[in-house]
Amino acid sequence: MICENITMKEVSIPEGRSETRLFFAGQDTVELAKKYGTPLYLMDEDRVRANCRVYKEAFKKYCGPDAYPLYASKANSFTRIYEIMSEEGMGIDLVSSGELFTAIQAGYDVSRAYFHGNNKTDFDISYGMENGVGYFVMDNWEEVEAIEREAAARGIKQKALLRLTPGIDPHTFEAVATGKVDSKFGNAIETRQAEEITLFAMAQPHIDLLGFHCHIGSQIFGEDLFEKSAEIMLGFIEKMEKSHGFKTAELNLGGGYGVRYVEDDPHIDIEKKISQVADSINKTCEDLGIQVPLVHMEPGRSIVADAGMTLYTVGSVKRIPGYKNYVSVDGGMPDNPRFALYGSKYTCLLAENRDKSKDKGKDKGKDKDKDSFVCSVVGRCCESGDIIQENVNLPNDVRRGDILAVCTTGAYNYSMASNYNRIPRPPIVMLRGGEENYIAVKRETFEDIARNDIK
Ligand code: LLP
Repeated sequence: MICENITMKEVSIPEGRSETRLFFAGQDTVELAKKYGTPLYLMDEDRVRANCRVYKEAFKKYCGPDAYPLYASKANSFTRIYEIMSEEGMGIDLVSSGELFTAIQAGYDVSRAYFHGNNKTDFDISYGMENGVGYFVMDNWEEVEAIEREAAARGIKQKALLRLTPGIDPHTFEAVATGKVDSKFGNAIETRQAEEITLFAMAQPHIDLLGFHCHIGSQIFGEDLFEKSAEIMLGFIEKMEKSHGFKTAELNLGGGYGVRYVEDDPHIDIEKKISQVADSINKTCEDLGIQVPLVHMEPGRSIVADAGMTLYTVGSVKRIPGYKNYVSVDGGMPDNPRFALYGSKYTCLLAENRDKSKDKGKDKGKDKDKDSFVCSVVGRCCESGDIIQENVNLPNDVRRGDILAVCTTGAYNYSMASNYNRIPRPPIVMLRGGEENYIAVKRETFEDIARNDIK
């Protein structure tokens, strides 16, 4: 299985029979689907916490006692997740006033929050300062001016970092590659715009420039990409110190470690990776003769992705002989737009494996390969691009009413969900301790969807 929290277990069913069922976080997915209905987002709270701890402990161990990771909450943003981040002592990365509002609702101490985004509005800046956001990660010239203006009006000195583009192509899919020179984000070191904006920010009386941020992309598996970007950033930091006397206190390397969506995806040893990044930073700083800055990273996907699973109910199975097969489920691109947007891979599993050898004995000894059925798992939206996954192998007897699970949906599913076709968003049910489950986000109602419509 792609993650240890996914297992198949034999359970007894009526008439003295048994079947193998999919368990997630130690809980029976068929029973969860019955209890809460489908489509349903599940989140394994224990896994979220375990993922946070891997980062947190590695940061402490290798980057110093004051270093800690920030959860990139765009990956999955809802009140309960900020409560968990607060309990786990994680910093957070926010990208909108909506995320900030949610974090505040959760009682999260936003003086530990970093406010990102390439186009913060005047409202975002004022709302952020009003609520005591710790740090703004300034993206561009206009933003530096706007932050200076607002901080001056409030008579405060706002802590901030500057976002730079180190010029790295992470060889990931283009839409999430953001550290390249031609990115919409940040200021390129290569074109000297990074230096110009640094001088400009340093000169602002109401901005306390602490250092620099970069983010090279998402779903990154590349061997030493973080080391490479850190090296480029530290070269820049040395230049700012030697040419302009600017001492950098913080270096934030952004997010991006990849997760396993399918069996072929590699496994990343996060602790080892962080130790390697820290070693490389320490060595580069020594070589350059500069102080080691406080290091941050902003994992999103690798904190929540494998803690998530989506359950659907199969509605129809369509076989077009000589062409293609479809299995339609009761969700789709509104709850998971990632295949439609990026062609993202997912592992789809049926939650019940009916044991056919006990099913009146009729399939006994049958060739196993003939049992598999290659199909496209599609949603219920009124468009052909509403696909969750192509070339999925399901048991041949898949039928209406079966529960189908899509694994690793904890990141960028709920947070990117829409009401396309006026389909209500699924609830988020948290699982913990192997048997406890509770609703963290309610299922949307039709009233919720039409709430802002004026009659
Ligand atoms: N920090 C910054 C500044 C970011 O822009 C991002 C992601 C992260 C951290 C977290 O990266 P992660 O660890 O999650 O890879 N919707 C796309 C992903 C977009 C990522 C945008 N930025 C997807 O579904 O794959």
